[in-house]
Amino acid sequence: MAEGGWTLGIESTAHTLSFGLVDGNGLPYPSISDTVRPDKGGIHPREAADHHKEKAPELFARILSDNDLHPSEISSIAFSQGPGLGPCLRIGASIARGLSKKLNAPLIGVNHCVAHIEIGRQQCGCDDPVLLYVSGGNTQVIARLEGRYRVLGETLDIGIGNMLDKFARAHGIPFPGGPVIEKLALEWYSQNSEHSMEGLELPYAVRGMDLAFSGVLTAALKLVENGKPLGAVCWSLQEHVFSACVEVAERALSHTGKNELLLGGGVACNNRLRSMCQIMSNERDSQSFAPPRMYCIDNGTMIARLGWLEQGAGRNTPFAMSAIDQYLRTDQTPITWS
Ligand code: ATP
Ligand code: FE2
Repeated sequence: MAEGGWTLGIESTAHTLSFGLVDGNGLPYPSISDTVRPDKGGIHPREAADHHKEKAPELFARILSDNDLHPSEISSIAFSQGPGLGPCLRIGASIARGLSKKLNAPLIGVNHCVAHIEIGRQQCGCDDPVLLYVSGGNTQVIARLEGRYRVLGETLDIGIGNMLDKFARAHGIPFPGGPVIEKLALEWYSQNSEHSMEGLELPYAVRGMDLAFSGVLTAALKLVENGKPLGAVCWSLQEHVFSACVEVAERALSHTGKNELLLGGGVACNNRLRSMCQIMSNERDSQSFAPPRMYCIDNGTMIARLGWLEQGAGRNTPFAMSAIDQYLRTDQTPITWS
């Protein structure tokens, strides 16, 4: 057993229940996860919460057996305290409280968005990056300034991932739609030598340092309704919204004088977005980083990692302070580690 024992991380903000571990030195071990995939419609918070409750015992048993651990070797329990869907967050928090009591291990409530950032820093070894955090519910450009991750720009309406999922769902593609849109876009791109945007133009999502996606979604749906091939619209949609994100990220690099860009969140799995970030960073003598895909999507390991950092900074969460916060913001969490 590593010095200081293991930290268990429990992720339950939305569609995924996940358990992950870091050892006593904060080194990550892969998560065991299960994601709700509704047959029809979007994610229903209550149904997702029921799913999490049902799956928890099996996933917890698997994370222990896969790592050859006895529960007594777990010395602290971290959980996502927010932001996210209330019913889902409450399940994660009550599992965490139960385990904390049973194992007599301190509880640490952590900020889900900050966890996406910290696992990326750990995995990529970058120091002081501008972050492009692109997930289902969030789209933010972030930089660390004076002890907080400050949001320099963000979506004014829906998250980029939710927009991609909605576009996909309208065409019968189940959650998560992002990876299928990526595949359709790439197929269309490789099958056509002409890569003209003519007739495929969409509104551009940049508003100063902020972004907006609902207008782009409506316009993309219209293009398909008006007979444009689905693959072509997927391609155009990706080009437009990813360019918008990369433009804001570039401006953030320029304003802050930083020279590292770090991607995070589920949409950061996308190869086209990764390559756009690479191109932009190369052009301005900066470096672009993206964590392995298993640490871009929601995962318990990132929660464990942030719990380990919080503990190292002398913080844990008494039961009385362990209520969830659906609306917790990235910049509400003090960052006191290097
Ligand atoms: P958060 O709570 O951090 O806002 P989230 O809980 O919705 O996010 P994540 O697991 O971080 O979840 O991200 C899920 C999103 O990532 C989904 O919208 C999914 O479509 C999108 N996604 C996953 N893979 C890809 C991909 N290859 N291309 C584009 N989008 C992707
Ligand atoms: Fe997430």
